[in-house]
Amino acid sequence: MTQNIIINGSDSFDFEVNIPADKSITHRAIIIASMYESKIRIINPLLADDCLSTIEVMRQLGATIKEEDANLIIMGKSYKNFSQPKEKIYAGNSGTLMRLVSGLLSMQDFSSEIYGDKSLMNRPMERICKPLREIGCKLDTFNGSPPIKFYPSSEKKSFEYENTLASAQVKSCMIFAAICLQGKSIIKEQIATRDHTERLLSYLDYPIKKVDNNICIIGQGDINPKEIKIPNDISSAAFFIVAALIKKNSRLTMKNINYNDRRIGIIKVLKEIGAKITIDNKRTETNDTVVDITSQYSQLESVNINGEIISDLIDELPILFIVCAACNGISQISNIEELRYKESDRIESMEKGLNLLGIKTESTQDSIKIHGGKLKGGIVDSCGDHRVAMAFSIAALISEKPITILNTKNISTSFPNFLDLLIEIGAELYES
Ligand code: S3P
Repeated sequence: MTQNIIINGSDSFDFEVNIPADKSITHRAIIIASMYESKIRIINPLLADDCLSTIEVMRQLGATIKEEDANLIIMGKSYKNFSQPKEKIYAGNSGTLMRLVSGLLSMQDFSSEIYGDKSLMNRPMERICKPLREIGCKLDTFNGSPPIKFYPSSEKKSFEYENTLASAQVKSCMIFAAICLQGKSIIKEQIATRDHTERLLSYLDYPIKKVDNNICIIGQGDINPKEIKIPNDISSAAFFIVAALIKKNSRLTMKNINYNDRRIGIIKVLKEIGAKITIDNKRTETNDTVVDITSQYSQLESVNINGEIISDLIDELPILFIVCAACNGISQISNIEELRYKESDRIESMEKGLNLLGIKTESTQDSIKIHGGKLKGGIVDSCGDHRVAMAFSIAALISEKPITILNTKNISTSFPNFLDLLIEIGAELYES
């Protein structure tokens, strides 16, 4: 993980940029299609490192997955009859993959072990292991972190579970577990989180229903195999939405962006502080909302947010911190402890970088205050975190001097053509 980049600003820009497909939905589409013995075509999947890891894992479990003209053709193997992997399962950098697939591995009649790269080996896994143990699964972690070892168990049974942590990954892990079990399971969410797993399963006519905050899943149901079309990723679009907002005389349009209610916290917050963002062509595709988004340079006020909105913009916080640095006044963002458990401790990595660029910050375990000001330029470490690296790349479009960003290789985990798009909109960029 060594690639470094230097970005020496850009002129103003006015373009349409092609944002890659949604990572969360691609993971789920690959996993679900791999669980059934029917042929499913996935159109416009994200073929970034994290999703390539998911493809490899599902192949190890027995699915046949082919790439054809940038689409995926999946012939699954029943989850009741997965193959036992010959080797330890590698989840790369992807917490989503590790947590989601654990719902399936914990249900198998064979032992297995899953591990990841250096960053993933430090991420918390008790959040999924505890509820899985409570429903009778046998599994171990290393002090709450990976590797996770799964053992066969005859005590597993359908369940009622209340998701107290606002985590779509925990919820989805439990949905996959529920599918494998006989009978009805219910998952209750205290705070609503992204519902891509539920939407995809419903789209494929799986017996899953949401009543108020309760998700009701009938175990061992069937699907009706259909083509799955993946919309583009609002979390990736967010970097370019902000680029246009903070760069004078600039405008960018992004088409076919997923506009799921639980993913658009960033749009709501940006609009509240004065962002000129227009949403066009709203439509429904594959049981989710899709739109075109245009954003243009705007005078932005400071940000003050906390509470339930945080889970609707959790992945956009690094780029929102850049907005806070670029606007006038002091911004305050609270209830963000979860940010400390992402691909890096994002409060720490962002704070260190912002300070090096001349921006004053104050933080606690679960909050940050950012004093808006001039971004001076300098050398920042992204700590191998894709979203931190991309956030500072966007900051470099408006900094007084160039910004050098260290350890940017993991940008390819979610947005392989990010640097190409930056160059396309006119950034002066050098790789070293
Ligand atoms: C994701 C859920 C979120 C998010 C992650 C992707 C998903 O994580 O931060 O990038 O696809 O389910 P948590 O479930 O930990 O909040």
